[in-house]
Amino acid sequence: MIISILKELTENENRVAATPQSVKDLIKNGVSVNIESGAGDSSFISDDDYKQSGANICSSSKEAMKDCDIIVKVNPPSKEEIDTFPEGKVFISFIQTTKELEIVNRLAKRKIAGFSMHLIPRTTLAQSMDALSSQANIAGYKAVLNGASLLPVYMPLLMTAAGTIPPAKVLIIGAGVAGLQAIATAKRLGAQVEAFDVRPEVKEQVESLGAKFVEVESDTNEGSGEGGYAKETSDEYKAKQQEKMTEHIIKSDLVITTALIPGRPAPKLISKSMVEKMKKGSVIVDLASENGGNCEATEKDAITNYNGVTIDGSSNLPSEMQLHASQLYAKNISTFINYMTKDGKINLDLDDEIISGAMFTHQGKINHKPTLEAINSSKDN
Ligand code: NAI
Repeated sequence: MIISILKELTENENRVAATPQSVKDLIKNGVSVNIESGAGDSSFISDDDYKQSGANICSSSKEAMKDCDIIVKVNPPSKEEIDTFPEGKVFISFIQTTKELEIVNRLAKRKIAGFSMHLIPRTTLAQSMDALSSQANIAGYKAVLNGASLLPVYMPLLMTAAGTIPPAKVLIIGAGVAGLQAIATAKRLGAQVEAFDVRPEVKEQVESLGAKFVEVESDTNEGSGEGGYAKETSDEYKAKQQEKMTEHIIKSDLVITTALIPGRPAPKLISKSMVEKMKKGSVIVDLASENGGNCEATEKDAITNYNGVTIDGSSNLPSEMQLHASQLYAKNISTFINYMTKDGKINLDLDDEIISGAMFTHQGKINHKPTLEAINSSKDN
C-alpha cells in the first residue's frame, strides 16, 4: 500500500501533511510513503529529512500518486488537482463539505473515497485523530500573540519608576478549544481575562483557567447543542447577549472571537456600531473569519483599521506556526490512516463510527447526510 503526500498549493499555506516521524509511524505499519519533492519546504522539512525517515521522494505530484492507494493533503484539493487524481482512491484533507460542494461533487465523480478531517467525531476514541482540535489550539494561542503585538499597550501589570501600568483587559468570545487556549495564553501574558460562551457548561472550564465568565441570564440551556457543540439561540437571548457583550467589549483592549456553530455561517456578534463604541487602539482578532467572521467589520485575511480599532481577520493562523501545526496534523493523519488499515491494506469498515463519520464520498456517491442536504438545497435554489 502506498500513501501519497502532496505539496500544498493554497497561497500562504506553510503546513504539510507528513513529518519524518509520521512517515516512520506509517512505514512501521507496513506501508510505503511517497512525498512530492518540496512538500515540506515551508515547514522546514527537507526532502532529505523525509528520505532518511524511509519515504520515497517523487519529482511531481503525478509521480507521487502513481500506484498509490491514499492521497493526503492539509487543504482541500483544487478542481484541477482532482482531475489529476487516479480514480477510486482514498483522499484525506480538511474540507468543509457542506460549503465546498463542487469539490465534493468532483471527488464523487472520480469515485474517490473522500474523508474530511473536519468530520472526525469529537469522541474520546478519536481524540488522537482530532485535527480540528490540534489546529484550533494553535489558532487560539497565536491569536493572543498576534493581538498582543498589535496592541499599543502592555499585557501585564507593571509597576515601574515611571508609573504603574494596569494589565490589559482581554475578552474571549467563544470558549471552545481555541477560546480556552486563548484564555490560558492571555493569562500567561498577565492580562485580565474575561470570557463568554453560549454554552453555560463551559463556565467551570473558563474559571479553572483563572478567567471571569461573563454570564447572560437565561432560564434554559439555550446555546448547548448536540455533541458538546453550540446551537442557534433565540432572538430574545441574542438581544440580551448583544447588550451584555457591548458592556464588556467597550472596556476591553483586546477582543478575540472564536464563536462557531458547525455547518453554519459564523454568528455576527460584534456589529460595526459596537466597534465604534470601542476604545481607539483596541484590537479585535476574529478567528471565525474563514466562516464569515464574528465581527461585521472583519475583512478575511487582512488587518484593517475601523474607526481606530485594529481588526485582524487572518483565517489561517496554524500556518503561521507551521512546524508544530504540521507535526500535530501529521500525527492526527498517521493515526487515522493506521486506524483505517489492517496488515498493510485499506480496511474501510463502514460500521465504524470514526470511518463512517469522517467519510463524505464513497463509490461515486455522497454518503454524508448534511453534505447531501446542502447539495440538494443548492440545486433547488
Ligand atoms: P467550535 O469551533 O464549533 O465553536 C467555538 C465556540 O464558540 C464553542 O465553544 C461554541 O459554544 C461557541 N459559540 C457558538 N456560538 C456562539 C455565540 N453566539 N456566542 C458565543 N459563543 C458561541 O467548537 P470547538 O472549539 O471545536 O469545540 C466545542 C466543544 O466540543 C468543546 O468545548 C468540547 O466540549 C467539544 N469537544 C470535544 C472533544 C472530545 O470529546 N474529544 C474534542 C474537541 C471538542
